[in-house]
Amino acid sequence: MNVQLNNITVQKVKSSKINEVDFSNLAFGSVFSDHMLECTYKNGVWETPKVVPYQPITLDPSSKIFHYGQSIFEGMKAYKDEEGSVWLFRPLENQKRLNISAKRMAIPELPEEYFIDGLTTLLQVDKEWIPQNPGSSLYIRPFIFASGNGFHASPADEYKFIIATAPSGAYFSGKVKVLIEEKYSRSANGGVGYAKAGGNYAGQFYPTQLAKVKGYQQVIWTDDNTHEYIEEAGAMNIFIRINDTLLTGPTSDRILDGITRKSILEIAADEGIKTEVRKISVTEVVKAAKDGSLKEMFGAGTAAVVSPISGFGYQDTDYELPELENSYSTLLKKRITDIQYNRAEDKFGWRHKVL
Ligand code: PLP
Ligand code: COI
Repeated sequence: MNVQLNNITVQKVKSSKINEVDFSNLAFGSVFSDHMLECTYKNGVWETPKVVPYQPITLDPSSKIFHYGQSIFEGMKAYKDEEGSVWLFRPLENQKRLNISAKRMAIPELPEEYFIDGLTTLLQVDKEWIPQNPGSSLYIRPFIFASGNGFHASPADEYKFIIATAPSGAYFSGKVKVLIEEKYSRSANGGVGYAKAGGNYAGQFYPTQLAKVKGYQQVIWTDDNTHEYIEEAGAMNIFIRINDTLLTGPTSDRILDGITRKSILEIAADEGIKTEVRKISVTEVVKAAKDGSLKEMFGAGTAAVVSPISGFGYQDTDYELPELENSYSTLLKKRITDIQYNRAEDKFGWRHKVL
């Protein structure tokens, strides 16, 4: 039976899968909630979204997504606090970034209200799927792909916007060991690195496989021109602490403008930590590792939250990072997750109550 919620039609599942899920042992993004939001772009307009049972999608073999990779996505989380209220973190930033990605990939931009009202309705319907145990959340994956047909190499005339959700635990288990890349590039000037385009991730898989064989979990990308400057990791922005200064590279058309990154910069400044957004050379980081001024490195992202880096490889040498008692990563992770899970005051106004 269909019901209307926030002017969105909701078609509920006949029976929920929720009892099959072990909420005390959640991996990242591998079980999916009962429903999804679906919205079609056709005849030049985005139609009103619907909430439907989570289900496979049928596509024609000539759908342009398969051939030309017109596909973009976002990553967000819904957090449940101790009272059972549900919160999002800076959701308008994701909505805006989806449309920045859409523009670059010649995908029609999605109306803001379809994103926010659609997501709110989906969360209302699948509220029980939002985990409450520490470190867990409902990972939200909004995405748009070209569903229109034809082998002509040009933008599709039909698209699907879908939001699927997955109750999830941590993205990384434990500290991350990274390899600073000297040969391959994730993105280039004038390219699509700043867009959350599916192809940006596919292009990283092969160099990351090579790094994994050598014992590293993530690649740290360097600039495509000289491979001398640190850019970002596969699924997170990078922070480096030299002495007591926290550094991160500037965003550019090669780097994803991470919402966690910009939040961490504001929280760090609020904590009185000296921050610098500037180009960081690999030479500087290696020198700091050798003379002991490199105190910590960590990644920041929605899935990864704040993930400490245990060490890095560069030019066939491994550099270990020290174990710190009062690390910036521990402090900043606590500050940001306390805001996200409604455990502390949100002086920045980032928390958005959904339910
Ligand atoms: N960089 C890349 C390539 C990512 O995939 C992500 C994850 O979304 C980030 C950085 C971090 O961005 P955010 O903090 O907005 O999740
Ligand atoms: C996220 O942090 O939400 C991302 O999109 C990273 C993803 C590749 C897991």
